Amino acid sequence: MGDYSMKILITGGSSGIGFDTAVRLALSKNKHHIYLAVHKSVQVRPTKEKIKMYNLSNIEVIVIDITKSEDLLKVKDLDIDCLVNNAAIGVGGSLLHLDVSEIRKNFEVNFFATLELTKEVMKSFVNSKKSGTIVTMSSLAGLIPIPFLGSYSSTKAALLTMMTALRRELLLLKVPIKIKLIEPGLYKTGFNDVMLDSAKGLCNLSDLASRYDSIIEFEQSVFNLLELTYTDSIVKKIVKAVESKNNHFIYRNPLLQVFGAKMYMLLFK
Ligand SMILES: NC(=O)c1ccc[n+]([C@@H]2O[C@H](COP(=O)([O-])OP(=O)(O)OC[C@H]3O[C@@H](n4cnc5c(N)ncnc54)[C@H](OP(=O)(O)O)[C@@H]3O)[C@@H](O)[C@H]2O)c1
Repeated sequence: MGDYSMKILITGGSSGIGFDTAVRLALSKNKHHIYLAVHKSVQVRPTKEKIKMYNLSNIEVIVIDITKSEDLLKVKDLDIDCLVNNAAIGVGGSLLHLDVSEIRKNFEVNFFATLELTKEVMKSFVNSKKSGTIVTMSSLAGLIPIPFLGSYSSTKAALLTMMTALRRELLLLKVPIKIKLIEPGLYKTGFNDVMLDSAKGLCNLSDLASRYDSIIEFEQSVFNLLELTYTDSIVKKIVKAVESKNNHFIYRNPLLQVFGAKMYMLLFK
């Protein structure tokens, strides 16, 4: 391996932004070795088939369900230099109707399991005296609380707060671990469709149900309009965060949606 090559673990990588990031990093001139973690064992074969199309030998597919403690132990043996916390779920629906157990599930994956894996990896960095990097996928939805996606938005806002505090702690302690946060806008990976579909039909109060359903339909059509078909713009930012030697914290794209989010914060916060 050359000077700059790293061992990088990406979670939730069977599809979407995680998979595309793995391919881009594997193609990098820096010759990284990628551990692409998929959520379930049934995803191993199709993921390997997709990788074959790129003729890449430096992506290794492994199985990690980030909510399973026995899976987190697998990370110890990998000796990674960089973790990309990409795995997440999206629970849709009004906070009025959603069962708290659903919101808890959303936090379990996006927040607590991500924190647990991050802690495991940080421990291994400290033990091996490595200046590793932790890159975490948040979202512009963590800055703009989206109605009917309040559960998901809250998990991403919590990640922003937690990673900000963690980064400051590490700076004060002079622990050389770099903390990076990615805040993507809307990309057409299927993630948002699944999340908005899960919001449908939750309201069974006759006087509210039709208004509720039409708002969800409207939100879905706005998302369809704004979603970018290709993930390139955010994947480039993730690669930059992974390979960066400086301590820059937040990476966002696409620019137009970032501008919209900034205007929102200026006007409504
Ligand atoms: N697409 C967007 O517009 C957008 C915008 C902002 C932020 N993001 C963030 O970008 C990241 C990637 O999303 P994406 O759009 O590429 O969607 P995606 O392809 O659905 O990626 C999410 C991945 O997380 C996996 N996952 C779910 N629960 C898991 C668990 N317990 N353990 C391990 N993996 C688990 C999913 O596996 P299964 O499919 O098997 O459940 C899936 O592979 C997410 O963090 C998302 O919040 C996306």
